[in-house]
Amino acid sequence: MQIAIITGASSGLGREFVKQISQKEPMEEIWVIARRTDRLFHLAKQLSVPIVPIPLDLTKQESFTRFHALLEEKKPDIRILINAAGFGKMGSYKDISLQDSGDMVELNCRALMQVTLLSLPYMSRGARILEICSTASFQPLPGLNVYAASKAFVQSYSRSLRWELFGHGVHVTAVCPYWITDTEFIPVSQENGNPAAIRHFPFSSHARHVVRAALRDSKLNLPVSAPGPVSFLQRFFAKFIPHELIIGCWEGLRRL
Ligand SMILES: NC(=O)c1ccc[n+]([C@@H]2O[C@H](COP(=O)([O-])OP(=O)(O)OC[C@H]3O[C@@H](n4cnc5c(N)ncnc54)[C@H](OP(=O)(O)O)[C@@H]3O)[C@@H](O)[C@H]2O)c1
Repeated sequence: MQIAIITGASSGLGREFVKQISQKEPMEEIWVIARRTDRLFHLAKQLSVPIVPIPLDLTKQESFTRFHALLEEKKPDIRILINAAGFGKMGSYKDISLQDSGDMVELNCRALMQVTLLSLPYMSRGARILEICSTASFQPLPGLNVYAASKAFVQSYSRSLRWELFGHGVHVTAVCPYWITDTEFIPVSQENGNPAAIRHFPFSSHARHVVRAALRDSKLNLPVSAPGPVSFLQRFFAKFIPHELIIGCWEGLRRL
């Protein structure tokens, strides 16, 4: 049974990936993972491809035991895996609780890695993995410190894994979007954080454009997808401009 697995499918990028994959890719089922069960069942009703809601909290270790058991039982042929579950909190180290800082690392890094490792035995030649990263991975970002560090992990992990999987024909792409304003990411990042840490989101993009570009770049087997002009330019300049200079500019701009 050929399937796609998408985490973070209850909103934002994850939900948009489910919609576009259901239209563009021949899947027998799409497995969707998130905590908000009602949202997953609602999505299942909207689409013609069979959707399998899997309510899991990916910051809890028992979720991976359940996910592993499901894979062992169904033995699917995973053609596409997308790790889109993730969150960030805005503010300095003083503004963000220990719990939130730990959960960012748990979800953005550990859960992404564990879902990937558990899925790999069920992926064969031509299968694709999209690890949702961020432009925050291109350099450190005060005010989004733990989040940016977690995304640097995702970028590094994805790019090395891509090479480790070279002979197996499984493609891995780190998708690095800039701000997207039609998802829940920004409101969630401001809850229990310091909304004033970042005041403006100029030149932001939309989920449907980011998803379309990410699916195209993964088909092209690119190591990194930089969807949109800001992401492309930030990736380019972060390779040449000293990061201390970029951080200095960011510190000025985010206070405007
Ligand atoms: N929006 C942006 O500006 C932006 C920019 C660059 C990168 N990104 C990245 O894009 C990815 C998707 O973000 P988004 O913009 O689509 O935000 P979003 O609308 O808030 O979606 C986040 C998803 O993660 C799921 N999630 C959160 N905590 C979870 C947990 N403990 N267990 C399982 N699922 C959990 C949420 O579902 P439940 O709450 O139902 O569990 C939701 O489906 C994230 O990795 C984010 O870092 C976003």
